[in-house]
Amino acid sequence: MPVEDNDSQVVLTHPEDNSTTVTILKYGANVLSWKNKGKEQLWLSEGAKVDGSKPVRGGIPLVFPVFGKQKDANHPTFPLPQHGFARSSEWEFLGQTSANPPTVQFALSPEQVSSEALKLWGNGDYDFTLILTVSLELDKLTTEIEVENAGEKEFEFNWLFHTYFRVPDITDTLVNNLIDQKCFDQLLAEEYVEKSPIISFHEEFDRIYKKVDYGKTFQIIEFGKVLINVVRKNLPDAVVWNPWIKKSDGMADFLPKNGYLNMLCVEPGNVSDFVKLQKGEKWTGAQILTVGGEIKVQSN
Ligand code: BG6
Repeated sequence: MPVEDNDSQVVLTHPEDNSTTVTILKYGANVLSWKNKGKEQLWLSEGAKVDGSKPVRGGIPLVFPVFGKQKDANHPTFPLPQHGFARSSEWEFLGQTSANPPTVQFALSPEQVSSEALKLWGNGDYDFTLILTVSLELDKLTTEIEVENAGEKEFEFNWLFHTYFRVPDITDTLVNNLIDQKCFDQLLAEEYVEKSPIISFHEEFDRIYKKVDYGKTFQIIEFGKVLINVVRKNLPDAVVWNPWIKKSDGMADFLPKNGYLNMLCVEPGNVSDFVKLQKGEKWTGAQILTVGGEIKVQSN
């Protein structure tokens, strides 16, 4: 069965390789697992709640309509909780749109969002339809989001695929092709130009790389081998995050406590500014993740 709908989760199995699968929780339309030829590619906390009581710690949480916590008190996203409400709402499973590659869709509109959360964004005056498409190929996972303004009022939003990758050891993990990119360091609250040809991780890391050329592929590399390639469509920014010891210790749902050694978030999004949608307009963005391949060195 290429697609199974088990009440709270949807499981896709590749028709040519039954050890290549993706599991999506309807709550948050959060991808929980992506196995490529039997090997898990995503990190999911052992303490993650998958019962809808709080956003999932791991996999691919969906961030909408605000990234982080809005500081500008005059912006309509200001009252919203950190990372918005898409990751804490039950999405509707629309079904399968292709058998090979197995592809499914989920939708979120105001009817699925709690009235309390809706009121926190533009006093609940916005109407929207989000369609998430998840497509599983051999060595490749694509997640695409379409946002439509289905109401009368213009609105602004951030989008982010908050992807948690599983890595064998963060201290041996590198990410390339971010050299000379403008970044906002969330820990220093400073903006500068990244000068490292390859990024390594030895402490807490939380940077927003801004408006990175779409030709750039971010590669997660360990011991000279490419684990994952991250390609973006219409998502100009990328957040790179590892909470390290102290921050993960403060997250009750982050388990095991040394799990930061086995995860790295590389998160394609549109977060350095807002996407503006007028009545009836649509916007689409996607992340395309592939496994393995050659190291590509891309300077400017
Ligand atoms: C990242 C942010 O995208 O998400 C971090 O850059 C934040 O600052 C992290 O800590 C996790 O957020 P949350 O709300 O899932 O704990």
